[in-house]
Amino acid sequence: MPDMLQRKHLSAAASRAARMPRAARANVVRMWRAARYAVVQSPRSLFWRELAANPGQIGAICASSPRLAARMAAWVDLSAPGLVVELGGGTGVITAALLACGVPRERLVVVEYSPTLAAHLMRRFPGVRVIEGDAARLTQWQSEGYLPPDASGQAQPIHTIVSGLPLLSMPHPVRARIIQAGAAALAEGGRLIQFTYTLRGRSPWQMADLVLHHSERVLANLPPARIDVLER
Ligand SMILES: C[S@@+](CC[C@H](N)C(=O)[O-])C[C@H]1O[C@@H](n2cnc3c(N)ncnc32)[C@H](O)[C@@H]1O
Repeated sequence: MPDMLQRKHLSAAASRAARMPRAARANVVRMWRAARYAVVQSPRSLFWRELAANPGQIGAICASSPRLAARMAAWVDLSAPGLVVELGGGTGVITAALLACGVPRERLVVVEYSPTLAAHLMRRFPGVRVIEGDAARLTQWQSEGYLPPDASGQAQPIHTIVSGLPLLSMPHPVRARIIQAGAAALAEGGRLIQFTYTLRGRSPWQMADLVLHHSERVLANLPPARIDVLER
């Protein structure tokens, strides 16, 4: 016959054993919820949901390929002082390429219209200024001192704009407002890098008197794309 102490140990072990399946079940549920959250919050899933909700605003069938993003980033002149502003950050493929090629976080600003994608960018790139809003407000943010200042608190010029905006699928007045604001916000001698799925024709930024400096095609993208590099 087990004594009092043995009985206590046995009943503790029995109750642990009884709890085991429930604890294991709870673990499985917890892991399943975490996996489901990861899938729902994954860049690809976010992109598809945003595309389904706002096809005109997204203007692409999938996010840019790493190759296209790397080629866009390669055109940033890292020796130029001031800010690099990315318009239409999406899920952050180009943002990641800009950081990887050496753009300092504190000099990078990403503008994204979709609140869901902007929140995702804020989580994904701590230290990068992400602005949720319309790219057409760039000059307003600049004049209101809403963009990050330099180390001494002075306003910084925008020396590069990197745009993934679907300009050609936007209504004409919307596109015109964005182009006007972007060209006005860009510093003298600054550079604007835009990709488009239209492989021929003038860049809409030429309407704002930016001068085409270079054009290249990136076939490793769905669909193939063209990068235009313009200068002010
Ligand atoms: C073609 S996706 C490009 C996303 C990402 N840069 C890439 O290359 O995968 C265009 C992005 O621009 C954003 N966008 C569209 N209109 C905008 C506007 N007026 N202001 C800021 N972002 C805008 C969309 O929400 C979308 O995330």
